Amino acid sequence: MKISIIGAGYVGLVTGACLAELGHHVTCMDSDRSKMLLLKANTMPIYEPGLGELVRRNRKSRRLGFTSRLDEAVEISEIIFIAVGTPSRENGAANLTYVENVARQIAEAMTGYRLIVEKSTVPVATGEWIERTIRLHVKKGIEFDVASNPEFLREGSAVQDFLHPDRIVLGVESGRARDILTRLYKPLKAPLVVTDMKSAELIKHASNSFLATKVSFINAVANLCDQVGADVHEVSRGMGLDRRIGPDFLEAGIGFGGSCFPKDLAAFVKISEDAGVDFTLLKSVSQINKNQRQIFLKRIEENLWNVSGKTIGVLGLAFKPNTDDLREAPSLEVIAWLRKEGARIRAYDPQAMPKARQVLKGITFVRDAYQAAQGADALVIVTGWDEFRKLDLKKIKEMMKYPLVLDGRNIYSPAHMKELGFRYVGIGRPQKPDRRG
Ligand code: UGA
Repeated sequence: MKISIIGAGYVGLVTGACLAELGHHVTCMDSDRSKMLLLKANTMPIYEPGLGELVRRNRKSRRLGFTSRLDEAVEISEIIFIAVGTPSRENGAANLTYVENVARQIAEAMTGYRLIVEKSTVPVATGEWIERTIRLHVKKGIEFDVASNPEFLREGSAVQDFLHPDRIVLGVESGRARDILTRLYKPLKAPLVVTDMKSAELIKHASNSFLATKVSFINAVANLCDQVGADVHEVSRGMGLDRRIGPDFLEAGIGFGGSCFPKDLAAFVKISEDAGVDFTLLKSVSQINKNQRQIFLKRIEENLWNVSGKTIGVLGLAFKPNTDDLREAPSLEVIAWLRKEGARIRAYDPQAMPKARQVLKGITFVRDAYQAAQGADALVIVTGWDEFRKLDLKKIKEMMKYPLVLDGRNIYSPAHMKELGFRYVGIGRPQKPDRRG
Protein backbone atom coordinates (compact mmCIF):
# COMPACT_ATOMS: atom_id res chain seq x y z
CA MET A 1 0.00 0.00 0.00
CA LYS A 2 1.15 3.59 -0.57
CA ILE A 3 1.52 5.73 2.52
CA SER A 4 2.75 9.24 3.18
CA ILE A 5 3.75 10.49 6.61
CA ILE A 6 3.61 14.21 7.30
CA GLY A 7 6.19 15.08 9.98
CA ALA A 8 9.43 13.11 10.28
CA GLY A 9 10.03 13.45 14.03
CA TYR A 10 10.42 10.47 16.37
CA VAL A 11 6.94 9.16 15.70
CA GLY A 12 6.74 9.93 11.97
CA LEU A 13 10.14 8.57 11.11
CA VAL A 14 9.79 5.36 13.11
CA THR A 15 6.28 4.79 11.77
CA GLY A 16 7.44 5.39 8.18
CA ALA A 17 10.50 3.15 8.42
CA CYS A 18 8.53 0.35 10.09
CA LEU A 19 5.63 0.49 7.63
CA ALA A 20 8.19 0.24 4.81
CA GLU A 21 9.70 -2.75 6.60
CA LEU A 22 6.24 -4.38 6.49
CA GLY A 23 6.38 -4.11 2.69
CA HIS A 24 4.47 -0.86 2.10
CA HIS A 25 5.69 2.05 -0.03
CA VAL A 26 6.27 5.00 2.26
CA THR A 27 7.08 8.66 1.66
CA CYS A 28 8.12 10.69 4.70
CA MET A 29 7.55 14.41 4.36
CA ASP A 30 8.95 17.15 6.59
CA SER A 31 9.19 20.89 5.93
CA ASP A 32 12.66 20.85 7.52
CA ARG A 33 14.77 20.49 4.37
CA SER A 34 18.03 19.96 6.22
CA LYS A 35 16.49 16.98 8.02
CA MET A 36 15.32 15.53 4.71
CA LEU A 37 18.81 15.96 3.24
CA LEU A 38 20.34 14.18 6.24
CA LEU A 39 17.90 11.29 5.83
CA LYS A 40 18.54 11.06 2.10
CA ALA A 41 22.21 10.66 3.03
CA ASN A 42 21.20 7.86 5.46
CA THR A 43 22.13 9.98 8.50
CA MET A 44 19.68 9.73 11.40
CA PRO A 45 18.63 13.05 12.96
CA ILE A 46 17.80 11.20 16.22
CA TYR A 47 19.28 8.33 18.20
CA GLU A 48 16.88 5.39 18.13
CA PRO A 49 18.19 1.82 18.28
CA GLY A 50 17.61 -0.09 15.02
CA LEU A 51 16.17 2.89 13.12
CA GLY A 52 19.24 3.66 10.99
CA GLU A 53 19.45 0.10 9.71
CA LEU A 54 15.74 0.05 8.89
CA VAL A 55 15.94 3.34 6.98
CA ARG A 56 19.01 2.23 5.01
CA ARG A 57 17.53 -1.16 4.13
CA ASN A 58 14.17 0.19 3.00
CA ARG A 59 15.68 3.06 1.04
CA LYS A 60 17.83 0.57 -0.79
CA SER A 61 14.81 -1.52 -1.71
CA ARG A 62 13.05 1.72 -2.76
CA ARG A 63 10.19 1.31 -0.31
CA LEU A 64 11.10 4.46 1.66
CA GLY A 65 11.53 7.96 0.27
CA PHE A 66 11.81 11.49 1.64
CA THR A 67 10.46 14.80 0.42
CA SER A 68 9.93 18.29 1.77
CA ARG A 69 6.93 18.87 -0.52
CA LEU A 70 3.57 18.19 1.05
CA ASP A 71 1.63 18.28 -2.25
CA GLU A 72 3.94 15.60 -3.64
CA ALA A 73 3.40 13.41 -0.54
CA VAL A 74 -0.39 13.78 -0.86
CA GLU A 75 -0.31 13.07 -4.60
CA ILE A 76 1.66 9.80 -4.31
CA SER A 77 -0.28 8.01 -1.56
CA GLU A 78 -3.79 6.95 -0.64
CA ILE A 79 -3.11 6.94 3.11
CA ILE A 80 -1.76 10.11 4.71
CA PHE A 81 -0.57 10.01 8.32
CA ILE A 82 -0.35 13.25 10.28
CA ALA A 83 2.58 12.96 12.70
CA VAL A 84 3.45 16.60 13.34
CA GLY A 85 4.26 18.04 16.78
CA THR A 86 1.61 19.06 19.29
CA PRO A 87 3.60 21.13 21.80
CA SER A 88 2.07 22.39 25.05
CA ARG A 89 0.52 25.83 25.29
CA GLU A 90 0.96 27.82 28.49
CA ASN A 91 -2.35 26.55 29.93
CA GLY A 92 -1.31 22.92 29.37
CA ALA A 93 -3.54 22.42 26.33
CA ALA A 94 -1.99 21.00 23.17
CA ASN A 95 -1.13 23.50 20.47
CA LEU A 96 -2.90 22.15 17.40
CA THR A 97 -2.00 24.82 14.88
CA TYR A 98 0.45 22.51 13.08
CA VAL A 99 -2.24 19.83 12.83
CA GLU A 100 -4.76 22.32 11.45
CA ASN A 101 -2.30 23.77 8.91
CA VAL A 102 -1.32 20.34 7.69
CA ALA A 103 -4.97 19.26 7.41
CA ARG A 104 -5.72 22.33 5.29
CA GLN A 105 -2.71 21.77 3.05
CA ILE A 106 -3.59 18.10 2.59
CA ALA A 107 -7.12 19.10 1.59
CA GLU A 108 -5.83 21.63 -0.94
CA ALA A 109 -3.49 19.06 -2.49
CA MET A 110 -6.04 16.22 -2.71
CA THR A 111 -7.03 15.09 -6.20
CA GLY A 112 -8.83 11.87 -5.24
CA TYR A 113 -9.90 9.74 -2.26
CA ARG A 114 -7.50 9.86 0.70
CA LEU A 115 -7.61 8.35 4.17
CA ILE A 116 -6.14 10.88 6.59
CA VAL A 117 -4.92 9.27 9.81
CA GLU A 118 -4.02 11.23 12.93
CA LYS A 119 -0.94 9.70 14.55
CA SER A 120 0.11 12.68 16.68
CA THR A 121 -1.11 12.59 20.28
CA VAL A 122 -4.09 14.91 20.25
CA PRO A 123 -7.00 15.86 22.51
CA VAL A 124 -10.28 14.08 22.05
CA ALA A 125 -12.36 15.48 19.15
CA THR A 126 -9.30 16.60 17.15
CA GLY A 127 -10.27 14.04 14.50
CA GLU A 128 -13.58 15.82 14.10
CA TRP A 129 -11.79 19.14 13.65
CA ILE A 130 -9.49 17.62 11.04
CA GLU A 131 -12.54 16.29 9.24
CA ARG A 132 -14.21 19.72 9.28
CA THR A 133 -11.03 21.48 8.13
CA ILE A 134 -10.57 19.11 5.22
CA ARG A 135 -14.23 19.38 4.23
CA LEU A 136 -13.88 23.15 4.18
CA HIS A 137 -10.84 23.19 1.88
CA VAL A 138 -11.11 20.11 -0.34
CA LYS A 139 -12.29 20.40 -3.92
CA LYS A 140 -15.96 19.52 -4.39
CA GLY A 141 -16.74 15.87 -5.00
CA ILE A 142 -13.52 14.44 -3.62
CA GLU A 143 -14.15 11.76 -1.00
CA PHE A 144 -12.06 11.21 2.09
CA ASP A 145 -12.06 9.61 5.54
CA VAL A 146 -10.38 10.64 8.75
CA ALA A 147 -9.20 8.08 11.32
CA SER A 148 -7.27 8.01 14.57
CA ASN A 149 -4.42 5.55 15.05
CA PRO A 150 -2.50 6.53 18.20
CA GLU A 151 1.07 5.39 18.72
CA PHE A 152 2.42 3.63 21.79
CA LEU A 153 6.11 3.87 20.96
CA ARG A 154 8.64 4.33 23.72
CA GLU A 155 11.76 6.23 22.83
CA GLY A 156 14.68 3.87 22.91
CA SER A 157 12.58 0.87 21.90
CA ALA A 158 10.29 2.50 19.36
CA VAL A 159 11.18 0.14 16.49
CA GLN A 160 10.59 -2.93 18.65
CA ASP A 161 7.36 -1.44 20.00
CA PHE A 162 6.10 -0.79 16.48
CA LEU A 163 6.94 -4.21 15.13
CA HIS A 164 5.71 -6.10 18.23
CA PRO A 165 2.82 -4.05 19.62
CA ASP A 166 0.58 -5.12 22.52
CA ARG A 167 -2.34 -3.78 20.50
CA ILE A 168 -3.17 -1.55 17.55
CA VAL A 169 -5.92 1.00 18.11
CA LEU A 170 -7.98 2.05 15.10
CA GLY A 171 -10.49 4.84 15.59
CA VAL A 172 -12.66 4.84 12.46
CA GLU A 173 -15.97 6.27 11.35
CA SER A 174 -16.46 4.29 8.12
CA GLY A 175 -16.13 0.72 6.86
CA ARG A 176 -13.78 1.90 4.12
CA ALA A 177 -11.33 3.42 6.64
CA ARG A 178 -11.57 0.30 8.83
CA ASP A 179 -10.79 -2.00 5.88
CA ILE A 180 -7.81 0.06 4.68
CA LEU A 181 -6.22 0.26 8.13
CA THR A 182 -6.89 -3.40 8.90
CA ARG A 183 -5.10 -4.35 5.67
CA LEU A 184 -2.25 -1.96 6.43
CA TYR A 185 -1.46 -3.56 9.77
CA LYS A 186 -2.25 -7.17 8.81
CA PRO A 187 1.43 -8.22 8.62
CA LEU A 188 1.87 -7.38 12.33
CA LYS A 189 -0.66 -9.99 13.49
CA ALA A 190 -1.38 -7.91 16.61
CA PRO A 191 -4.69 -7.61 18.50
CA LEU A 192 -6.78 -4.85 16.92
CA VAL A 193 -8.99 -2.51 18.91
CA VAL A 194 -11.38 -1.15 16.31
CA THR A 195 -13.42 1.67 17.78
CA ASP A 196 -14.72 5.18 17.11
CA MET A 197 -12.37 8.11 16.70
CA LYS A 198 -13.04 9.81 20.04
CA SER A 199 -12.52 6.61 22.01
CA ALA A 200 -9.24 5.99 20.16
CA GLU A 201 -8.06 9.50 21.00
CA LEU A 202 -8.94 8.96 24.65
CA ILE A 203 -7.19 5.56 24.77
CA LYS A 204 -3.89 7.28 24.04
CA HIS A 205 -4.15 10.04 26.66
CA ALA A 206 -5.62 7.68 29.24
CA SER A 207 -2.83 5.12 28.69
CA ASN A 208 0.00 7.63 29.14
CA SER A 209 -1.74 9.22 32.13
CA PHE A 210 -2.25 5.82 33.75
CA LEU A 211 1.42 4.87 33.30
CA ALA A 212 2.47 8.22 34.76
CA THR A 213 0.11 7.54 37.67
CA LYS A 214 1.88 4.23 38.33
CA VAL A 215 5.25 5.99 38.43
CA SER A 216 4.04 8.74 40.78
CA PHE A 217 2.30 6.18 42.95
CA ILE A 218 5.46 4.15 43.47
CA ASN A 219 7.46 7.33 44.03
CA ALA A 220 5.08 8.35 46.82
CA VAL A 221 5.43 4.85 48.28
CA ALA A 222 9.23 5.22 48.04
CA ASN A 223 9.11 8.41 50.07
CA LEU A 224 7.11 6.55 52.68
CA CYS A 225 9.68 3.71 52.61
CA ASP A 226 12.43 6.23 53.36
CA GLN A 227 10.54 7.47 56.40
CA VAL A 228 9.61 4.09 57.86
CA GLY A 229 12.68 2.06 56.89
CA ALA A 230 11.14 -0.20 54.22
CA ASP A 231 12.59 -1.01 50.78
CA VAL A 232 10.61 0.16 47.74
CA HIS A 233 12.18 -2.56 45.56
CA GLU A 234 10.61 -5.16 47.78
CA VAL A 235 7.29 -3.34 47.78
CA SER A 236 7.31 -3.07 43.94
CA ARG A 237 8.19 -6.74 43.61
CA GLY A 238 5.42 -7.77 45.97
CA MET A 239 2.88 -5.57 44.25
CA GLY A 240 3.96 -6.34 40.69
CA LEU A 241 3.44 -10.09 41.02
CA ASP A 242 -0.27 -9.44 41.36
CA ARG A 243 -1.36 -9.80 37.73
CA ARG A 244 -3.99 -7.10 38.21
CA ILE A 245 -1.20 -4.63 39.01
CA GLY A 246 1.73 -5.92 36.89
CA PRO A 247 5.45 -5.29 37.44
CA ASP A 248 6.01 -2.53 34.86
CA PHE A 249 6.30 1.17 35.63
CA LEU A 250 6.84 0.51 39.32
CA GLU A 251 10.47 1.65 39.41
CA ALA A 252 10.83 4.46 41.91
CA GLY A 253 13.26 7.27 41.17
CA ILE A 254 13.69 10.95 40.53
CA GLY A 255 10.48 11.04 38.46
CA PHE A 256 9.33 10.89 34.88
CA GLY A 257 10.31 13.24 32.08
CA GLY A 258 10.42 13.19 28.29
CA SER A 259 8.31 14.74 25.62
CA CYS A 260 5.19 12.69 26.40
CA PHE A 261 4.17 12.08 30.00
CA PRO A 262 4.43 15.65 31.36
CA LYS A 263 2.83 17.14 28.25
CA ASP A 264 0.11 14.51 27.91
CA LEU A 265 -0.81 14.73 31.58
CA ALA A 266 -1.19 18.50 31.36
CA ALA A 267 -3.27 18.14 28.21
CA PHE A 268 -5.50 15.48 29.78
CA VAL A 269 -6.10 17.66 32.83
CA LYS A 270 -7.09 20.53 30.52
CA ILE A 271 -9.36 18.29 28.43
CA SER A 272 -11.11 17.10 31.60
CA GLU A 273 -11.47 20.63 32.95
CA ASP A 274 -12.94 21.84 29.66
CA ALA A 275 -15.39 18.94 29.79
CA GLY A 276 -16.37 19.88 33.35
CA VAL A 277 -14.87 16.71 34.83
CA ASP A 278 -12.84 16.89 38.03
CA PHE A 279 -9.70 14.78 37.45
CA THR A 280 -7.81 15.87 40.57
CA LEU A 281 -5.95 12.55 40.56
CA LEU A 282 -3.94 13.63 37.52
CA LYS A 283 -3.01 16.95 39.11
CA SER A 284 -1.62 15.02 42.06
CA VAL A 285 0.34 12.75 39.72
CA SER A 286 2.00 15.83 38.24
CA GLN A 287 2.59 17.39 41.63
CA ILE A 288 4.21 14.23 43.05
CA ASN A 289 6.50 14.18 40.03
CA LYS A 290 7.57 17.79 40.59
CA ASN A 291 8.10 17.16 44.33
CA GLN A 292 10.19 14.09 43.58
CA ARG A 293 12.89 16.21 41.96
CA GLN A 294 12.84 18.64 44.90
CA ILE A 295 13.14 15.79 47.39
CA PHE A 296 16.20 14.52 45.52
CA LEU A 297 17.82 17.96 45.54
CA LYS A 298 17.17 18.20 49.26
CA ARG A 299 18.89 14.83 49.71
CA ILE A 300 21.94 16.13 47.88
CA GLU A 301 22.05 19.16 50.14
CA GLU A 302 21.55 17.16 53.34
CA ASN A 303 24.42 14.87 52.45
CA LEU A 304 26.89 17.49 51.27
CA TRP A 305 26.17 20.12 53.92
CA ASN A 306 27.31 22.98 51.65
CA VAL A 307 27.03 22.45 47.93
CA SER A 308 29.02 25.56 47.07
CA GLY A 309 32.55 24.79 45.89
CA LYS A 310 31.96 21.02 45.81
CA THR A 311 32.66 18.91 42.73
CA ILE A 312 29.71 16.79 41.65
CA GLY A 313 29.84 14.03 39.06
CA VAL A 314 26.56 13.70 37.19
CA LEU A 315 25.90 10.36 35.50
CA GLY A 316 23.16 10.50 32.91
CA LEU A 317 21.58 13.47 31.14
CA ALA A 318 18.93 11.93 28.87
CA PHE A 319 15.43 11.73 30.37
CA LYS A 320 15.74 7.92 30.39
CA PRO A 321 18.19 5.29 29.08
CA ASN A 322 18.61 4.39 25.39
CA THR A 323 17.76 7.82 24.07
CA ASP A 324 19.58 11.11 23.56
CA ASP A 325 16.43 13.08 24.32
CA LEU A 326 16.76 15.81 26.94
CA ARG A 327 13.22 17.12 26.85
CA GLU A 328 11.87 17.52 30.41
CA ALA A 329 14.88 15.53 31.61
CA PRO A 330 15.36 15.67 35.41
CA SER A 331 19.09 16.26 34.72
CA LEU A 332 18.31 19.80 33.52
CA GLU A 333 16.71 20.74 36.83
CA VAL A 334 19.36 18.97 38.91
CA ILE A 335 22.21 20.67 37.05
CA ALA A 336 20.55 24.10 37.11
CA TRP A 337 20.16 23.82 40.88
CA LEU A 338 23.70 22.54 41.47
CA ARG A 339 25.06 25.43 39.42
CA LYS A 340 22.94 27.95 41.29
CA GLU A 341 24.31 26.55 44.56
CA GLY A 342 27.86 27.02 43.26
CA ALA A 343 28.92 23.41 42.57
CA ARG A 344 31.43 22.39 39.90
CA ILE A 345 29.86 19.79 37.63
CA ARG A 346 31.48 16.95 35.70
CA ALA A 347 28.78 15.36 33.54
CA TYR A 348 28.63 12.28 31.35
CA ASP A 349 25.94 10.55 29.28
CA PRO A 350 26.49 7.70 26.80
CA GLN A 351 24.35 9.31 24.07
CA ALA A 352 23.02 12.73 25.04
CA MET A 353 26.31 14.67 25.17
CA PRO A 354 26.01 16.38 21.75
CA LYS A 355 22.51 17.64 22.57
CA ALA A 356 23.51 18.48 26.15
CA ARG A 357 26.41 20.65 24.98
CA GLN A 358 23.90 22.86 23.18
CA VAL A 359 21.68 23.48 26.20
CA LEU A 360 23.88 23.10 29.29
CA LYS A 361 26.49 25.78 29.77
CA GLY A 362 29.10 26.25 32.50
CA ILE A 363 29.67 22.55 33.22
CA THR A 364 32.49 20.19 32.30
CA PHE A 365 31.56 17.34 29.95
CA VAL A 366 33.77 14.31 30.44
CA ARG A 367 34.34 11.24 28.30
CA ASP A 368 33.17 8.51 30.67
CA ALA A 369 31.71 7.75 34.10
CA TYR A 370 35.16 7.36 35.69
CA GLN A 371 36.14 10.84 34.55
CA ALA A 372 32.92 12.15 36.10
CA ALA A 373 33.91 10.55 39.42
CA GLN A 374 37.43 12.01 39.31
CA GLY A 375 37.94 14.17 42.41
CA ALA A 376 34.18 14.33 43.05
CA ASP A 377 32.63 15.04 46.46
CA ALA A 378 29.55 13.17 45.28
CA LEU A 379 28.32 11.18 42.33
CA VAL A 380 24.71 11.81 41.33
CA ILE A 381 22.93 9.25 39.15
CA VAL A 382 20.16 10.80 37.11
CA THR A 383 19.61 8.31 34.25
CA GLY A 384 19.61 4.54 34.74
CA TRP A 385 21.82 3.56 31.77
CA ASP A 386 22.90 -0.09 31.80
CA GLU A 387 26.48 1.08 31.34
CA PHE A 388 26.35 2.60 34.84
CA ARG A 389 25.15 -0.66 36.37
CA LYS A 390 28.29 -2.37 35.08
CA LEU A 391 30.85 0.14 36.37
CA ASP A 392 33.90 -0.97 38.34
CA LEU A 393 32.67 0.59 41.57
CA LYS A 394 35.95 -0.02 43.40
CA LYS A 395 37.68 2.08 40.78
CA ILE A 396 34.96 4.72 41.04
CA LYS A 397 35.50 4.89 44.80
CA GLU A 398 39.24 5.29 44.42
CA MET A 399 38.76 8.16 42.00
CA MET A 400 36.34 10.11 44.16
CA LYS A 401 37.39 12.63 46.80
CA TYR A 402 34.57 11.43 49.03
CA PRO A 403 32.64 8.20 48.31
CA LEU A 404 29.10 9.57 48.35
CA VAL A 405 26.64 8.26 45.74
CA LEU A 406 23.16 9.73 45.38
CA ASP A 407 21.27 7.34 43.16
CA GLY A 408 18.17 8.89 41.58
CA ARG A 409 17.40 5.66 39.71
CA ASN A 410 18.08 2.97 42.32
CA ILE A 411 20.51 1.13 40.05
CA TYR A 412 22.75 -0.20 42.85
CA SER A 413 22.08 -2.37 45.88
CA PRO A 414 22.35 -0.36 49.11
CA ALA A 415 23.93 -3.34 50.92
CA HIS A 416 26.58 -3.84 48.23
CA MET A 417 27.41 -0.15 48.18
CA LYS A 418 27.82 -0.20 51.94
CA GLU A 419 30.15 -3.20 51.68
CA LEU A 420 32.27 -1.30 49.18
CA GLY A 421 32.51 1.59 51.63
CA PHE A 422 30.24 4.09 49.91
CA ARG A 423 27.80 6.37 51.60
CA TYR A 424 24.83 5.51 49.40
CA VAL A 425 21.51 7.28 49.15
CA GLY A 426 18.82 5.79 46.92
CA ILE A 427 15.11 6.54 46.62
CA GLY A 428 13.02 4.59 49.12
CA ARG A 429 15.90 2.23 49.92
CA PRO A 430 17.38 2.88 53.34
CA GLN A 431 20.73 1.11 53.86
CA LYS A 432 20.49 -2.21 55.68
CA PRO A 433 22.02 -5.68 55.21
CA ASP A 434 20.89 -7.47 52.02
CA ARG A 435 19.21 -10.66 53.22
CA ARG A 436 18.58 -11.90 49.68
CA GLY A 437 22.29 -12.55 49.13
C1 UGA B 1 5.76 7.00 26.62
C2 UGA B 1 4.87 5.74 26.57
O1 UGA B 1 5.46 4.67 27.31
C3 UGA B 1 4.63 5.30 25.14
O2 UGA B 1 3.72 4.18 25.10
C4 UGA B 1 4.04 6.46 24.34
O3 UGA B 1 3.82 6.13 23.00
C5 UGA B 1 5.00 7.64 24.42
O4 UGA B 1 5.18 8.00 25.79
C6 UGA B 1 4.38 8.77 23.64
O5 UGA B 1 3.32 9.27 24.05
O6 UGA B 1 4.87 9.10 22.55
P1 UGA B 1 8.39 7.47 26.55
O7 UGA B 1 8.08 8.87 26.91
O8 UGA B 1 9.35 7.21 25.44
O9 UGA B 1 7.04 6.65 26.15
O10 UGA B 1 9.03 6.81 27.82
P2 UGA B 1 8.65 5.71 28.91
O11 UGA B 1 9.53 4.54 28.73
O12 UGA B 1 7.21 5.46 28.97
O13 UGA B 1 9.12 6.48 30.24
C7 UGA B 1 8.52 7.71 30.62
C8 UGA B 1 9.18 8.25 31.85
O14 UGA B 1 8.81 7.49 33.00
C9 UGA B 1 10.71 8.25 31.81
O15 UGA B 1 11.19 9.47 32.35
C10 UGA B 1 11.10 7.10 32.72
O16 UGA B 1 12.35 7.28 33.33
C11 UGA B 1 9.97 7.15 33.75
N1 UGA B 1 9.73 5.87 34.42
C12 UGA B 1 9.22 4.80 33.72
C13 UGA B 1 9.98 5.74 35.78
O17 UGA B 1 10.42 6.70 36.44
N2 UGA B 1 9.71 4.55 36.40
C14 UGA B 1 9.23 3.49 35.72
O18 UGA B 1 9.01 2.42 36.35
C15 UGA B 1 8.98 3.61 34.34
